[in-house]
Amino acid sequence: MKVLICSDSGRVAELAAQLLAGQVRGKPDSVLGLATGRTMESIYRRLVGIAGADGIDFGAVTTFNLDEYVGLSGEQAQSYRHYMRAHLFGHVNLDTARTHVPDGAARDADAEARAYEARIAGAGGIDLQLLGLGENGHIGFNEPLSALASRTRVVTLARATLVQNAGLFDGDPARVPTRAITMGTGTILEARKALMVVTGARKAGIAAQAIEGPVSASVPGSALQCHPDCIVLLDPAAASALKLRDAIEWQMRHDAELLAIQALGR
Ligand code: GLP
Repeated sequence: MKVLICSDSGRVAELAAQLLAGQVRGKPDSVLGLATGRTMESIYRRLVGIAGADGIDFGAVTTFNLDEYVGLSGEQAQSYRHYMRAHLFGHVNLDTARTHVPDGAARDADAEARAYEARIAGAGGIDLQLLGLGENGHIGFNEPLSALASRTRVVTLARATLVQNAGLFDGDPARVPTRAITMGTGTILEARKALMVVTGARKAGIAAQAIEGPVSASVPGSALQCHPDCIVLLDPAAASALKLRDAIEWQMRHDAELLAIQALGR
């Protein structure tokens, strides 16, 4: 795991967008793993800007989103398919047929989860997986105690997640669907590269556990410590509880890959 503490959350978004853009520039038929949530909104805004300014061609790109609520169709405003249309799909030349979000309205959600896993494999696996971190340590919707080897499946959401994600549901946790289809932690670990982005003081404690704590199903984000090629971008607030700060800053000043990332967009 390589950790980069950025000057502020704007720079986090800039670097994440630059890494995604660079992936597509370097491999126009990339398979991207995408995420939702507030953290991602500024990243997609920036990516759309870079794509427009630099003429990045998404025509051959395939995407797989991490998760979707069970019971919501892609037409509903709270669905992650809708989120992706609003923040990215509607603003770059992605071929809709190549964009994949689990179908939350599928009659058989378990079968949809298995088929989704097969579609990822059929596309040759994910080149670069973008990830946020839930306040309870979840990645995708792999809640605490999700098996580290879990695959795409139907999960029951944690109480903390219903509260965290109530914003789109009139602020009422009772209106948030209680189940979701999510890529498994094991599925996520198979992406060839992983990029986790964490911002804000509310996530400082859980970010420290995910980055420095023991690898544990109690903190699904900690599974990324096992990923062979994972970058974590943090703003100073999210980095504020890290104990290995000196070691991280040393790497930031000396590691060639981290130096190259810090030069992006300058
Ligand atoms: C949702 C998504 C997660 C995401 C999390 C963080 O729960 N399923 O994939 O990491 O939100 O959201 P935010 O960026 O809004 O804190």
